[in-house]
Amino acid sequence: MSEELTDPTKGYLSTRILTVQLKRYDPEKDREPHWQEFKVEARPIDRVLDVLMKVKWDQDDTIGLRKSCGQGICGSDAMRINGQNNLACKMLVQNLKSDKITVEPILGLPVIKDLIVDMKPFFDHYKSIMPFLVNTDPAPTTERLQTPAQRERFDEGTKCILCACCTTACPPFWGNREYVGPAAIVNAHRFIFDSRDQAASERLEILNDAEGVWRCRTVFNCTSACPRGIKVTQLISEVKRALITGVLDMPQEAEVLA
Ligand code: SF4
Ligand code: SF4
Ligand code: FES
Repeated sequence: MSEELTDPTKGYLSTRILTVQLKRYDPEKDREPHWQEFKVEARPIDRVLDVLMKVKWDQDDTIGLRKSCGQGICGSDAMRINGQNNLACKMLVQNLKSDKITVEPILGLPVIKDLIVDMKPFFDHYKSIMPFLVNTDPAPTTERLQTPAQRERFDEGTKCILCACCTTACPPFWGNREYVGPAAIVNAHRFIFDSRDQAASERLEILNDAEGVWRCRTVFNCTSACPRGIKVTQLISEVKRALITGVLDMPQEAEVLA
């Protein structure tokens, strides 16, 4: 085994002491949120989620946070780490620039306790864009076929894990919670540009509302915040273009399977 793996003073086993500033808020005790500091020993391969769980298990089990998969898939541990939205399970200690780290809840949603926010307003916006396939044709006896080009057209939006990192990094959303937000638009895009779907015009009408896609000021915070690397602002621009031109930029019929 390499020296880096076996020597505790080197590589992946070497540890550093992190100072974690955690924003705390317990509505049963606190009038206002406040910062609390913890010292934690962490390895380079630990994730920020591991660091927080060490604090919770060893120092203060009243800390409230959400997590599940630990693999960047469930989207439940979105939080603001050093001023940027991210999934705590996707940030490695070895990539932290300093031994000090601030952790606070994502912005723009009501805080329930510590890092736990009320996701209902976020999911209400998601539900508003009809995030399901609409097709009233008689069900075929086999799958509804698509060409690779047709499938590729909406691929980007299928990567969304509904973590809310984008919507809660968006300044127009901070100022106005009625704004449908980038995550809902990404998920609308996923169906608007799906050749099997028949409700594109309904979804576009919903997004043409005063609280719809025109609230976006193209600041790109959402794209930088997305832990799945989705080109959020580009998808929003494609929805805007469809509304302005009345034309869906879809692969040509000639490419459709016979
Ligand atoms: S590009 Fe639009 S949706 Fe994304 S953060 Fe900026 S204003 Fe919000
Ligand atoms: S678009 Fe990205 S940041 Fe926004 S909810 Fe989906 S996965 Fe999260
Ligand atoms: S715990 Fe599931 S995405 Fe981080």
